[in-house]
Amino acid sequence: MNAQELTGTARTLVAGDKGLLAMDESIPTCNKRFARLGIPQTEEARRAYRELIVTTPGLGECISGAILYDKTIRQRKKDGTPFVQVITDAGIIPGIKVDTGAKDMAGHPGEKITEGLEGLRGRLVEYSQRGARFAKWRAVIAVGDLLPSRGCIEANAHALARYAALCQEAGLVPVVEPEVLMDGGHTLKRCCEVTEEVLRTVFNQLYTQRVTLEGIILKPNMVLPGLTCPKQAAVDEVADATVRCLLRAVPAAVPGIAFLSGGQSGELASARLNAMNLRFKSRRPWALAFSFARAIQQPALEIWQGKEAHVLAAQQALVHRARCNRAARRGEYNAAMEGT
Ligand code: 13P
Repeated sequence: MNAQELTGTARTLVAGDKGLLAMDESIPTCNKRFARLGIPQTEEARRAYRELIVTTPGLGECISGAILYDKTIRQRKKDGTPFVQVITDAGIIPGIKVDTGAKDMAGHPGEKITEGLEGLRGRLVEYSQRGARFAKWRAVIAVGDLLPSRGCIEANAHALARYAALCQEAGLVPVVEPEVLMDGGHTLKRCCEVTEEVLRTVFNQLYTQRVTLEGIILKPNMVLPGLTCPKQAAVDEVADATVRCLLRAVPAAVPGIAFLSGGQSGELASARLNAMNLRFKSRRPWALAFSFARAIQQPALEIWQGKEAHVLAAQQALVHRARCNRAARRGEYNAAMEGT
C-alpha cells in the first residue's frame, strides 16, 4: 500500500465542490428500475443507459468519481471506447462496487449481512488493473421495534472493516457504506440513535482491522425519520440531526463523508446537503459531499425511457442534478435552481 497515494485519492474524491456518482446498480436492481418505466431489461439497454451517463457533457465538472458495477467496468461505448477510458478522459476517477449483495442473515429474521469477502483480494487486483482507484461496499441496517440487533451491526461492521483493509492493501480507497434504511415508521431521533451506534461500531472495527482513516471515504445515510413516520422533519432539522450525529461518531481523520440518497427525491437530497454545508460551514472537520445514485439518475432515467431520441434531454437532466449537488456542497443551492 502506498499511503500517500491512497490519501491523495481519497482527498481528490471529495475536493472542491464535486461528489461521486453511483452507477453500480446490480443487474436485478437495474432491471427493476427499467421495468417500472417499461424499458426493456436487456444487456444492450443496460449498456446503452450507462453509455448515456458516461458521455454526458459537463459531467466531470461536478463529478469526481463514478462507481461502476463489475459488468460496467468491462463495457464499451458503441464505437468501442472502454467506459473506463471515457470516464478518465472526462476527469472522473473510476470506482467499483465489490460487495456481492446483502443476503438474509442466519438467525436474524428481517436483517441482512453483506457478502463478498471470499476471493476479494484477487478481484481487487483485477479491478485495479482495469483502472479502478476506489471501491464500494454497502451494508444495510433495518430499523424496527426490535431491530437492528447487535449481531447484525457487528457482523456488518466487521465485514466493512475487512473489506476496507483489503482495499487499502490493493491501493484502492474504500468507500465504507453502512446504510440505515429509511423504511419504517421510526422517528428522526431513533434514526439518529441507530446511525450513531452503527457508526461507532464501524469505526471501532476499522481501528481494530488497522484501516488508515485518512484513506477512506464514509458513505452514510442522512439522519431521517422513517418513510411512514407521521412526523416528517424540516430540511434544517435533518441537517442538524445528521451533522450532530456524525460529529459524535466520525473521527476527524476521515477526509470526507459522501452521503447516499437512499430513496429521497433529488430535490430533497440537494436541499438537505445544502443545509448541512451552510449551517456547519466552520464546524466540521470533514468535507460533506454526495455519492448519490437515484437522487442524480432518476429524472434522467424517466426521460430516457430507453429511446435513442431522448438521450440528449436525459443527459441534460442528469447534469442538472449533478450541478444542483455541486451547488449544495458550497451551500449555494436553492429551489429556484430547479426551474432553470
Ligand atoms: P442511492 O443514492 O440511490 O441510495 O444509492 C447510493 C448507493 O450507491 C447505494 O449503494
